Amino acid sequence: MNLLAGKRILLGVTGGIAAYKSAELIRRLQDQGADVHVVMTAAATEFITPLTLQGLSGHPVHLDLLDTETESVMGHIELARWADLILIAPASANFIARLSQGHGSDLLSTICLAAQCQIAVAPAMNQGMWANAATQENVRSLMTQGTAIFGPDEGLQACGEIGEGRLLDVAGIVDLTIATFPNGKLRGCKVVITAGPTREAIDPVRYISNHSSGKQGYALAEAAIEAGAEVILISGPTNLAPPNRANVIPVTSAQEMYEASMQEATGADIFIGVAAVADFRPTEVSRQKIKKDKSGSRVTITLEENPDIIASVAALGDGPFTVGFAAETSHVIDYARAKLAKKNLDMVIANNVSNQEIGFNSDENETTMIWGNQEQTLPIASKRNIATKIVGTIAEALPESHAHD
Ligand code: CTP
Repeated sequence: MNLLAGKRILLGVTGGIAAYKSAELIRRLQDQGADVHVVMTAAATEFITPLTLQGLSGHPVHLDLLDTETESVMGHIELARWADLILIAPASANFIARLSQGHGSDLLSTICLAAQCQIAVAPAMNQGMWANAATQENVRSLMTQGTAIFGPDEGLQACGEIGEGRLLDVAGIVDLTIATFPNGKLRGCKVVITAGPTREAIDPVRYISNHSSGKQGYALAEAAIEAGAEVILISGPTNLAPPNRANVIPVTSAQEMYEASMQEATGADIFIGVAAVADFRPTEVSRQKIKKDKSGSRVTITLEENPDIIASVAALGDGPFTVGFAAETSHVIDYARAKLAKKNLDMVIANNVSNQEIGFNSDENETTMIWGNQEQTLPIASKRNIATKIVGTIAEALPESHAHD
């Protein structure tokens, strides 16, 4: 399962005998789809080599605040921004003390100071050090600062003593890591989204298209990524920067969008058709630019129908949960309900595009979601905000067979 798909985890390794377990931890986090970068303290390098962790993580290991080479690859502030979670495992008593007091004395503590993301700490130390009042006070202080504490475990320790202080087992750390992502409503789901307009060529320089900006589709891709999904964004031409972690398949025509959609929809859990697909395309595309002089004052372009992408996806046996959009200018809810039934969709999202304030090119939208015997209107809000709500509702409506949590 890919319960950490697309998640960026900065693994901090500090000095202690349990540092060898970080090698296994990298692998198990990667098994769940996480991208892992490693930062080691100087003491950690005495227990396990940076080369080992570099080989396993597939990225240069970051060791030194003042190392120009690694800083030029990804500087400490960039690393702090990059991470969705900073996981320090194992965390020594010394590092916990420095972290709780806000030190910025080495690379890892500096990154923690600069980071906005969640920090989690998996302590590992001798049972006496763990029980020590100063350590306990430092851990309490970290908890009140919002740091998550994973473990420690009890049992036989490297020093031969028995008690609390062992590093939590790797599987337990991975489980708690997964649980730190609270908005993982679509964890492990593969979501395919079509967005933007399509262009139907008339000749080498002209095409038929529409006013779709792609904003709502891109916002949905971002919201689905945030909810933990792996997102394939099949996009017609837009002026938008693609969401950071979406796998974007750029297409131009409806036929190309159809082919990419049919390929990606197989095995997907959710398909959201946001694209304003051109319903018709010129039956013949002129190889040469159509000239005025040859055509006289009238040109006739014969159009033929494009495949209905979302209806084809909904017709797949064992296909994804299929969500369509219905952009209407009148009788919005009635027409949307008719599309839900006709295309055999699981959910339809109706929006009134006759209002200039909302719809195609604007940053705002007002929609009504219709599924099963339910109907919910999302009042006018930013497309990003609407997207988050839509993703939340889809997650709740998703049948067991497509849910991975
Ligand atoms: N859609 C599609 N393939 C098409 C046409 C539409 O996948 N060839 C999808 C859109 O992405 C949207 C839904 O169908 O999710 C409804 O699109 P819309 O243009 O509102 O409906 P049409 O089926 O084209 O009907 P009409 O233009 O008559 O309103």
